[in-house]
Amino acid sequence: MQVLKHKIRAEGKVLSDTVLKVDSFLNHQIDPQLMKEIGQEFAELFREEGITKIITIESSGIAPATMAGLIMDIPVVFARKRKSLTLSKNLYSASVYSFTKKETSEISVSGDFIQPDDVVLIIDDFLANGQAVLGLIDIIEQAGARLSGVGIVIEKGFQNGGELLRKQGIRVESLAIVSSLENGKVVFTEEEQA
Ligand code: G4P
Ligand code: NA
Ligand code: NA
Repeated sequence: MQVLKHKIRAEGKVLSDTVLKVDSFLNHQIDPQLMKEIGQEFAELFREEGITKIITIESSGIAPATMAGLIMDIPVVFARKRKSLTLSKNLYSASVYSFTKKETSEISVSGDFIQPDDVVLIIDDFLANGQAVLGLIDIIEQAGARLSGVGIVIEKGFQNGGELLRKQGIRVESLAIVSSLENGKVVFTEEEQA
């Protein structure tokens, strides 16, 4: 997605060989116009799949997921990282290990908002090692729902999440794939010529 790559080049900050900071439009301040275009792109990519629900994780997945949900006219559910005050009994949970943060966290979704007849699209802001997505897939399986695919805003192609998911036969669509952040420079995986 060209407009996204231009934005990353213009405003992204390479913090290290593995971390890209995009606080000005995705992870802190949000660019609603760009999020709308991202939502349209996901809606277009997954429009033939009969998707009934989008699932993401708080907090940075919510903006792109909501825009996709608006255009696809379906609800958006975000997995919580902390237990809600209004604790539900009917809760699906999964443990997610972050290699980046070196800690495990528990994510959860209420059974009220995911049903066995749901066809689910997972959307998230970053794909690194894929552990957050695997946690969401675990929750979708617990609910007996069906995973249709995964939409990612920025995939770090040099980490193993994309391969881990794709080799299980899961459809992963990333709007920008960064192949390297070495020497402070953002390099994207070449786009296939349509
Ligand atoms: P994984 O799920 O793919 O295994 O990812 P990992 O544990 O490495 O990611 C932990 C957190 O760091 C996630 O956000 C993820 O989106 C974010 N992250 C990973 N790599 C990058 C990066 O290069 N740049 C930025 N900006 N973020 C990265 P989170 O803790 O869930 O936070 P948030 O959703 O509230 O923003
Ligand atoms: Na994030
Ligand atoms: Na995220």
